[in-house]
Amino acid sequence: MGRELPKRVFIKTYGCQMNVYDSSRMADLLSPLGYRSAQAPEGADLVILNTCHIREKAAEKVFSELGQLKRLKETKGKRGGRMLIAVGGCVAQAEGAELLARAPFVDIVFGPQTYHRLPEFLARAARACGEGILDTSFPPEAKFDHLPDARADAGASAFLSVQEGCDKFCTFCVVPYTRGAEFSRPAAQILAEARRLAAAGAREIMLLGQNVNAYHGASPEGAKWGLGDLLRALSEIPGLLRLRYTTSHPRDFDDSLIAAHRDLPKLMPQLHLPVQSGADRVLAFMNRQHTADDYRRIVERLRKARPDLALSSDFIVGFPGEREEDFAATLALVREIGFAQAFSFKYSPRPGTPAAAVPGQVPESQKAERLLVLQRLISDEERRFNEGFLGRVVPVLLEKAGRRSGQLVGKSPYFQSVHVMAESGKKGEIVPVLIREVGLSSLGGVRVEAALA
Ligand code: 5AD
Ligand code: SF4
Repeated sequence: MGRELPKRVFIKTYGCQMNVYDSSRMADLLSPLGYRSAQAPEGADLVILNTCHIREKAAEKVFSELGQLKRLKETKGKRGGRMLIAVGGCVAQAEGAELLARAPFVDIVFGPQTYHRLPEFLARAARACGEGILDTSFPPEAKFDHLPDARADAGASAFLSVQEGCDKFCTFCVVPYTRGAEFSRPAAQILAEARRLAAAGAREIMLLGQNVNAYHGASPEGAKWGLGDLLRALSEIPGLLRLRYTTSHPRDFDDSLIAAHRDLPKLMPQLHLPVQSGADRVLAFMNRQHTADDYRRIVERLRKARPDLALSSDFIVGFPGEREEDFAATLALVREIGFAQAFSFKYSPRPGTPAAAVPGQVPESQKAERLLVLQRLISDEERRFNEGFLGRVVPVLLEKAGRRSGQLVGKSPYFQSVHVMAESGKKGEIVPVLIREVGLSSLGGVRVEAALA
């Protein structure tokens, strides 16, 4: 008997950082089963699509990808081989049985809260003769208690999921339905994962959660910790040099978290704080549970704690009922706050969410027009923010190879990508870089010997 070849898995990830994290944990689960990663679906025995449902056409993209995989599976089958196709993530959660009905060649459909059961699904799929396996339940057991340790191949910057799900029910959003109720991992579990990541070479950790600042996990002693407490404990881990967290909700900032921005040098001066709209009418329709002034006040408190804080945000234009003057209020807020970065989207009705069914939907052409205006303003703001760094020396955490040979790309404390010439052995180091160029979405500079400011 010949030696058994390793099985190959190809995981394609759509959407947010949480999905990127989940995909890496799926790889952790599959590794003890003998799966190594494939570079393309062609070379894979198992293909997993980890899908996103946040905005339009996500499901359609998945079905079109599935069409191609179907042909690949058939070709493999004709040659006597076998390829399993699995669909996970938020489209799988939302579409469930429908997905299996429309794409019966799919072997496994699972949701964001059931992927720890992948080994069991694979064992069942090996025995199954054709019928698909579906598990989009919200199981009573916590998935994190059933995942193996994260593998020790962390890059310089690693994701760590600390909180998941959402109880806020903004009327545009599918997350409360696809990811389920808010859940915070116990702090001891998070600290252990962070120590392992640091030992594996991570210098920066980005804490992830749909509502990460609503974190309220058990402390190692069994008390309750908020995100501020967790950040304090994480900042004591030797080897970890930088901490960030995303995504926050304006309602969930407590004094302890704001004080963490003042007190913890490892907590980077950058925050993604979506506001969605600058108009109170629209914020109320969205069920955001805060006003534009509430947002201004939080920003003021945060900037008082950390004056150089770089803010980024998300905006939705063309929400049902949004008038021209509401949109003007959004533009005014953008000008006033001065964001370092912002993402803007046309409102996309999501099936099953309250806003999808209300009257007053904004015509597509108007959404497109508003988006263009907002994106122009945002890119002006972004350019202004970046130009402020010309001639300054910033500490850059070198992360990966750049496009040009001999170039590395890293991050400034303010989350700007910075290109710099440096040997690949320098990955994971923080080096002083004199900023000489400002591009569309990144900075360029040269390494200097000067001590870090
Ligand atoms: N339509 C448009 N944008 C949306 N987002 C979430 N749901 C929708 C939707 N239905 C945007 C929000 C959120 C970001 C992750 O995606 O701005 O902050
Ligand atoms: Fe969605 Fe609102 Fe929850 Fe954010 S806070 S995940 S936008 S429902």
